[in-house]
Amino acid sequence: MDRIRIRGGRRLEGRIAIGGAKNAALPLMATGLLTQAPVILTNAPALADVATMGHLIAQHGLTVEHDRDSRRILLDGAATQFEAPYDLVRKMRASILVLGPLLARYGQARVSLPGGCAIGTRPVDLHLKGLEQMGAVIDLDSGYINATVPKGQNGGRLKGARILFPQVSVGATENLLMAATLAEGTTQLINAAREPEITDLANCLISMGARIEGVGSDRLTIHGVDSLHGTTHAILPDRIEAGTFACAGAITGGELLLEGMTLDLFGACTRSLREAGVEMIQEEDGVRTRRLNGLHGVDVMTEPFPGFATDMQAQFMALMAVAEGASMITETIFENRFMHVPELARMGARINAHGSSAIVRGVKRLSGAPVMATDLRASVSLIIAALAAEGETTVNRVYHLDRGYERIEEKLAGVGADIARLQG
Ligand code: UD1
Repeated sequence: MDRIRIRGGRRLEGRIAIGGAKNAALPLMATGLLTQAPVILTNAPALADVATMGHLIAQHGLTVEHDRDSRRILLDGAATQFEAPYDLVRKMRASILVLGPLLARYGQARVSLPGGCAIGTRPVDLHLKGLEQMGAVIDLDSGYINATVPKGQNGGRLKGARILFPQVSVGATENLLMAATLAEGTTQLINAAREPEITDLANCLISMGARIEGVGSDRLTIHGVDSLHGTTHAILPDRIEAGTFACAGAITGGELLLEGMTLDLFGACTRSLREAGVEMIQEEDGVRTRRLNGLHGVDVMTEPFPGFATDMQAQFMALMAVAEGASMITETIFENRFMHVPELARMGARINAHGSSAIVRGVKRLSGAPVMATDLRASVSLIIAALAAEGETTVNRVYHLDRGYERIEEKLAGVGADIARLQG
């Protein structure tokens, strides 16, 4: 199993090209199920999760081609198979995003329940309740979601509904948004998630002929249409990858230009990084981040966009581990998302986690150690800590990193990090 070895203490400086957003690419790929015409996605990242989504959609019967050189994904043809099997869904929870499109276009879907996940229980009840409100009949058996639209209902077509989410959910908003584009009548999604990836999805759907109002707000109105056509859509930059590199640069006292990134995509992360002592400037070809002087402890609480992203919590904690003063980090989106805490502690961080909050008391220096990756963002927080640590760190189980970061060791080495992937 691959490991990553980092020798800390090098200041990072230079330019890093930010890839297309993983969390936009996955729902965008599911739009291929809404039409028979070709959907072409450009700026597609070469990530393990994107490959998993490609396999899933291909086994539904579509042609899926991912050309890594030109960064294009082509999705073409009609679905002939409506089951998303456990073997693929268990690898990636976002597989649930095929449910809404399959139901909307074909009136049937059988999708394995995603099951447990390292960062909390993460149910899918909001997805299912919304689809039921749109007329789907859903039952759960042997670990599968069986969903159909009764033939007697508008010839097997979902119907528009007013759906009020009791809790903000990115995935449920995306699933219901896609489903509603082909439903009969108007759907309202109230208390919808507002993440930039949802705006990207809505814009792609509009370019396919969908009628959506309120894009970018927490209230989406979708007037269903009879069919959607193909499109070519450029995936927006990955704000989590960019934020990760901003923390990596800052912890080394460095300066990076995050190419292709725009500040508005960061939401509250910009303010928190600035308060911590990191300059963030929008330039023509990207965002420049530069550590001014020392780092200061800053309190953050994770929230739906535009609040501080839960996917940036672990990386920010690594930064706070060497800041002056204390920082209180509160996780409100997922339970059990502090798995990086004991690993950071092995590197000398002083962190006290209790329930959904962690107090980080900055230390002068971290020290390298062998550590274990537990989930995607937790693993990258260990790399960030290692960049500033004295001595050598090896991060084990790096397959987690490959789910969401493309060639991370090459990108960091390119701006001066002493980092290498050790095979086997
Ligand atoms: C997406 C992102 C993930 C990010 C998360 C929150 C993708 C592929 N993944 O995940 O990286 O960390 O948003 O920004 O885009 N919930 C329910 N019932 C549901 C659905 C969700 O209770 O039916 C709860 C979850 O357990 C969680 C909260 O709602 O506590 C938010 O989850 P959600 O926004 O749905 O996250 P994902 O879409 O899975």
